[in-house]
Amino acid sequence: MSELATYLPPASLAASAHVSGMEAYQRLCAEAEADYEGYWARLAREFVEWKTPFTQVLDSSQAPFFRWFADGELNVSYNCLDRQVAAGLGAKTAIIFEADDGQVTTVSYEELLARTCRMANALKSLGVKKGDRVVIYMSMSVEGVVAMQACARIGATHSVVFGGFSAQSLRDRIEDAGAVLVITADEQLRGGKQLPLKSIVDDAIALGGCDSLRQVVVYRRTGGQIAWHADRDRWLHELTEGQPSTCEPEWVGAEHPLFLLYTSGSTGKPKGVQHASGGYLLHAALTTKWTFDLKPDDVFWCTADIGWVTGHTYIAYGPLALGATEVVFEGVPTYPDAARFWKMIERHKVSVFYTAPTAIRSLIKAAESNDAVHPRHSDLSSLRILGSVGEPINPAAWEWYHQHIGGGRCPIVDTFWQTETGGHMITPLPGATPLVPGSCTLPFPGIQAAIVDETGKDVPNGQGGILVVKKPWPSMIRTIWGDPERFKKSYYPADFQGRYYLAGDGAIRDEKTGYFTITGRIDDVLNVSGHRMGTMEIESALVGCTELVAEAAVVGRPDDTTGEAICAFVVLKRPRPSGDEAKAIAKQLRDWVGKEIGPIAKPKDIRFGDNLPKTRSGKIMRRLLRSVAKGEAVTQDTSTLENPAILEQLGQAY
Ligand code: WT7
Repeated sequence: MSELATYLPPASLAASAHVSGMEAYQRLCAEAEADYEGYWARLAREFVEWKTPFTQVLDSSQAPFFRWFADGELNVSYNCLDRQVAAGLGAKTAIIFEADDGQVTTVSYEELLARTCRMANALKSLGVKKGDRVVIYMSMSVEGVVAMQACARIGATHSVVFGGFSAQSLRDRIEDAGAVLVITADEQLRGGKQLPLKSIVDDAIALGGCDSLRQVVVYRRTGGQIAWHADRDRWLHELTEGQPSTCEPEWVGAEHPLFLLYTSGSTGKPKGVQHASGGYLLHAALTTKWTFDLKPDDVFWCTADIGWVTGHTYIAYGPLALGATEVVFEGVPTYPDAARFWKMIERHKVSVFYTAPTAIRSLIKAAESNDAVHPRHSDLSSLRILGSVGEPINPAAWEWYHQHIGGGRCPIVDTFWQTETGGHMITPLPGATPLVPGSCTLPFPGIQAAIVDETGKDVPNGQGGILVVKKPWPSMIRTIWGDPERFKKSYYPADFQGRYYLAGDGAIRDEKTGYFTITGRIDDVLNVSGHRMGTMEIESALVGCTELVAEAAVVGRPDDTTGEAICAFVVLKRPRPSGDEAKAIAKQLRDWVGKEIGPIAKPKDIRFGDNLPKTRSGKIMRRLLRSVAKGEAVTQDTSTLENPAILEQLGQAY
């Protein structure tokens, strides 16, 4: 890696950056090293407005259930909205919303505050109280952000469920969270198509088990036909009409759960990652400011969906906590054509652009096959910083992003983090860190990232190992909702005597620079287009198709566009199919998985066998399946394999 080109921060950017030069970066790291709690306390006072100042910083008495600033009180929505209005930014644009059809609306901080208050009052009128859980099942919209802010304002804990998840997945999350209310829209608009939302909520409820749920609030987006259940459904516009545009924030303790966000783990059941208020807001604001070097005049655009953590930290909270102007986009990067992102950067004069490698890779392909959508036809001169998130960015995509989008002048911040970490963990700072394509470089100041072996011992640079974080940090996951034991087992395992946070990724540090490169998950979690999927989750969906499937094993294989692709090995309850029949069954199974989890979980390859390769003791040989999925020659020892002949069967993907 050290032989690869390094890119230095442009001098003018470095000179005026919030963190200017490597010495400044090192000074911050040294400050945290010398007085860890003092460092975070200083920043917590600088970045968060407290109703009641904290006197404690880190409380480790219940480790690994760490608490930060626990006796402090605040309100997150107050910090994002009222604070800006009070500072004279009321008329400043908070959100530039671009709809799927290209229609643009802007919302000032004043307006966003008023809309948040009206929605907060509406929620209160329905009896939603502090500590209640509210599920938000919406697409990208101002209302989605307002819904999150409104929950924060009244102390309700939101749980946003990505609009691409199925009724079954939604049902599971409503039940697990014990949600009292769902906020949804009649339909969503994506790529010129009207797609259902409300009817999926209806289906989720019809599946049963949502006993905690009292009401469904519906934002009218398209006016499309939906079924109405007068006993539980309420139109958002009717509820907010006539509500006062002020609402006293509910002051909560710093540890009050701001949100739950479900994510995949290595077992079948998604986990409700619980985040706190104070520490989370601190890191959201701090990383937005330092990683993106965000200035008052910037136009920030994070292309993530609010259904993922990136949309929480870098759309709903971080930019607003800084009083920034941000773009919120309803649609998809390929509609009306694959120049949409570039045209939007031009139209809104975006200066900081944050997206995922999978989007970049697919837009490279599109530009290479159709010059009309090449970014050269758009004026991208407003850009000054680019970001990448969600999966490793391969050097070729990095170089293209740097050259064709960044005009060779914009630093790319490759930000490594997770749903559980709340914000950036390992990332360049654009005015300080020399960049090496494919490396997320160095830990954010104060984050004690390290690489260890199975026993928790540090491994030398140049030698790969397990990525851990040695000290707790303010925006870390607090627990898994309803399952503290699983929290301990997943993140503070006994292997490291419960001392270190286990990220679940492998990593390696460069021998010379100490730069980190993430080498991928070390558990049974896949990353498909930057979306996290558990192999067990997909397996249990497949075997849930009891009429067809006897057994299933799911592995990942590398894919040029999506990073990883899902590959399912299936044993049917009927004789192994081939040809058109196999194709038809594969489609049936994909649709089934789409219905059970959501379209993002549909396997790309489905392979049928009379059996799965197992050792004589009955263990599925997953390593071998990974080789087969890749199309590699099997070099592993197959002598323990019960039936070597099935390897040939599994070579055929449908
Ligand atoms: C997993 C977390 C980070 C918010 C969106 C995804 C992978 C994330 C990078 C990166 C290499 C990355 C890791 C991580 N990942 N960012 N810059 N380089 N890998 O959040 O769904 O919780 O997924 O995404 O494997 O563990 P998530």
